[in-house]
Amino acid sequence: MTEGSQTVTGYEEPQAPVARLFDQVADGYDRAALRFFPFTADRLAQRLAPRPGEKILDVATGTGAVAVAVGQRLSGNRDGGGRIMAVDISERMLDRAYANVRRMALHNVDLHPMDAAALEFRDSYFDALTCSFGLFFLPDMAAALREWRRVLRPGGRLLLTSFGSEAFQPLAGWFCEQLQACGGPSIRPEDFAWQRLATAEAATALLAEAGFEQIECVTEQLGYHLQAAQEWWEIVWNTGYRGHLATLDAAALARFEQQHLERIGAAFEDGKLWLNVPVLFVSARVAET
Ligand SMILES: C[S@@+](CC[C@H](N)C(=O)[O-])C[C@H]1O[C@@H](n2cnc3c(N)ncnc32)[C@H](O)[C@@H]1O
Repeated sequence: MTEGSQTVTGYEEPQAPVARLFDQVADGYDRAALRFFPFTADRLAQRLAPRPGEKILDVATGTGAVAVAVGQRLSGNRDGGGRIMAVDISERMLDRAYANVRRMALHNVDLHPMDAAALEFRDSYFDALTCSFGLFFLPDMAAALREWRRVLRPGGRLLLTSFGSEAFQPLAGWFCEQLQACGGPSIRPEDFAWQRLATAEAATALLAEAGFEQIECVTEQLGYHLQAAQEWWEIVWNTGYRGHLATLDAAALARFEQQHLERIGAAFEDGKLWLNVPVLFVSARVAET
């Protein structure tokens, strides 16, 4: 494994469609409209409070928001030391992450193409593991968590995030209604991937099943006002929402975009529209031996 981006090949179902989706959205993923990702990453790094010399793994790093935030905190320690390794299944997301790490002049971040469910690291290697908005993409979340526990040392910390159940509402509901009306798939906001991990109860049960201890869940509101309907489209087009548009042909997609943005635009009051982004922060530890 080397620093930087590498070609991700050979992934079979069920990971391949997710890798393709994120390859597709990578170029627009760091747009300002999607700033709930770096906002969350900053809060997560603050909660993690990495200590000098620690080895930290960021799983499903995407364009590296958490890796950059944690890397900055580690390099901000006067004593120096410490390293963050960051993995993702999407080659294009890792390309962006590499550029972001370079742009921030960080020398303590290593990026590796890797499946979150099968980590190529030895047992008990890391002091902490982070995963922001990634776990719910994995088909077997409990198995992945057991794998993450394997690479954490005794007493090691886990920090992950998911969206709360009401995230992006009511916009998400309008998205589903209008998508179906335009010939798209019949989906409900409850069907979005993150709903698998949207409550403290679900997260606690899952982490306990995977053998973690001291599980704590906190929800923070990290939303903001959109200034234009187009900003919502940037979110739709550059996140997992886009996967739900895949079956529309070009004409149906254009019709959907126009009708949906009209509906979104009509909801603006005084030139702004609230983007509801409740974020669930989950922390836990591996038992000390
Ligand atoms: C919503 S993005 C979150 C990215 C980043 N953590 C952030 O908060 O901005 C989800 C990421 O999970 C990655 N991912 C999904 N399934 C994965 C898997 N099996 N192994 C590694 N990464 C995966 C995707 O490629 C994508 O970059």
